[in-house]
Amino acid sequence: MALLDNRDIPLDILISVAIDAAQQAGAVLVGFTRTGFRIEHKQIINLVTDADRQAEQCIIDVIHDAFPTHRVLAEERGLTEQPPSRYQWVIDPLDGTTNFAHGFPNYCVSIGVERDGHGIIGVVYDPTRDELFTAQIGQGAHLNGTPIAVSKTGHLDHALLVTGFAYDIRETSNNNLNHFARFALKVQGLRRTGTAALDLCYVAAGRFDGFWEVKLSPWDMAAGVVILREAGGAVTDFKGNPHSIYGQELVASNGPIHQLMLDLLQEDIPHG
Ligand code: IPD
Ligand code: CA
Ligand code: CA
Repeated sequence: MALLDNRDIPLDILISVAIDAAQQAGAVLVGFTRTGFRIEHKQIINLVTDADRQAEQCIIDVIHDAFPTHRVLAEERGLTEQPPSRYQWVIDPLDGTTNFAHGFPNYCVSIGVERDGHGIIGVVYDPTRDELFTAQIGQGAHLNGTPIAVSKTGHLDHALLVTGFAYDIRETSNNNLNHFARFALKVQGLRRTGTAALDLCYVAAGRFDGFWEVKLSPWDMAAGVVILREAGGAVTDFKGNPHSIYGQELVASNGPIHQLMLDLLQEDIPHG
């Protein structure tokens, strides 16, 4: 099925290709947990495996079979050499590589689609639990086909929050440890799961009440922010400005605790 991209492609068609790609890539990842895989170091604590690369190739093949002219921004390959297109697919073939490499079963495939620069589709697939989070703009968010919504928690004392740390944690003081310490004393619970795309989906599903992180990449967020927004959540930068997946800061919440999170994040601005 090859479609031109000079007209609006129905969201149903886009999402079915995204789901197909995510599930095929999920099967690739699970396959590698059985056969074993090679681990390389991009930097001292930043890993990449055969599984990341093969899952990514699988996703790109599925997308380009359906939409040969669409641009693809993928973590391991970067931007594919496509001419400008109204459509850009933003892919993390394995979000949670450190977990995956250690056999800790918490990782996912994340696929977002942008049309004219706006996120319109989000698909995140967790193959370890067979959980498929999906959203199309204007049509709500779903987990395995059932609608999901954010929590109603309005107090940090009752909130379960999640965060993460970038791979340069040892090299800079802008490493989120200051925020982590402050939140730990204000909330009911605080987690670091190691997979930002699932963290966003878990806020969307009401499992977490809020999530913040600095220095995420577009592929960590592209799908999850569409899913979160469609589930009724709020997403901004640390000052409350509109969020961009190409920016550095992310605050995602159920809405009622958003300003409380922003207040804590602004208490001190990290240096360096
Ligand atoms: C990482 C995970 C992690 C987050 C890091 C990301 P990767 O992605 O999403 O939760 O804290 O900032 O880089 O490397 O596993 O795809
Ligand atoms: Ca990632
Ligand atoms: Ca990744």
